[in-house]
Amino acid sequence: MIIAVDGPAASGKGTIARALARHYGLPNMDTGLLYRAVAATVQRLALDPTIEADAVAACDFDQDMLTDPLLREDDIGQLASIVSAHPLVRASLLQRQRRFAAQPGGAILDGRDIGTVIAPDAEAKLFVRATPQIRARRRHAELQARGSMLSFDRVLADIRARDLRDAGRSAAPLVQAADAVILDTSFLSVDASVQRAIELVEQRRVTY
Ligand code: DC
Repeated sequence: MIIAVDGPAASGKGTIARALARHYGLPNMDTGLLYRAVAATVQRLALDPTIEADAVAACDFDQDMLTDPLLREDDIGQLASIVSAHPLVRASLLQRQRRFAAQPGGAILDGRDIGTVIAPDAEAKLFVRATPQIRARRRHAELQARGSMLSFDRVLADIRARDLRDAGRSAAPLVQAADAVILDTSFLSVDASVQRAIELVEQRRVTY
């Protein structure tokens, strides 16, 4: 079984994908980390993220980077959103994601284009969303807990900018797959969101 979990920044998709992975005993790939690793490499090598050839050169990043906590920083997220708009960057990361999805026992992947591009035949597709204000509130609390001084307004502006860029690009934009089910986490606790996600996956499974 392949489960595709897509949605905008801070929607809760990562938490839901990890919980589903535990529940079903499946491996999980956070595909945003791949784009974040490209972004961090662009930054380290002082390349220009808006130039496609520069971003492509950074796709050959060191695998050990994927566990680096630096990748979770907000500025790396913004930079990841910029490099991910280049079609050749997406092409360069495609096979690795498809291979992960094709594991014999199945897999869970979360990102922006899993249900539309990476695994269009996934058995279950969730599109996780929440209002920008609520996502900003969550992200702000998370950043504050890590000692960040970023204001709520700045976090909200960043989330809106990333939404526009991720949904507005022409290469594999953030869009709900036609056969995805929406899971709105705006007014759900983490536990309730995970419970609902499992119910939705189970409903999809019986229809196959
Ligand atoms: O999910 P995230 O916040 O870690 O993703 C960081 C950026 O990477 C996001 O703003 C857009 C890009 N991304 C993408 O284009 N496609 C994916 N499947 C995952 C992430």
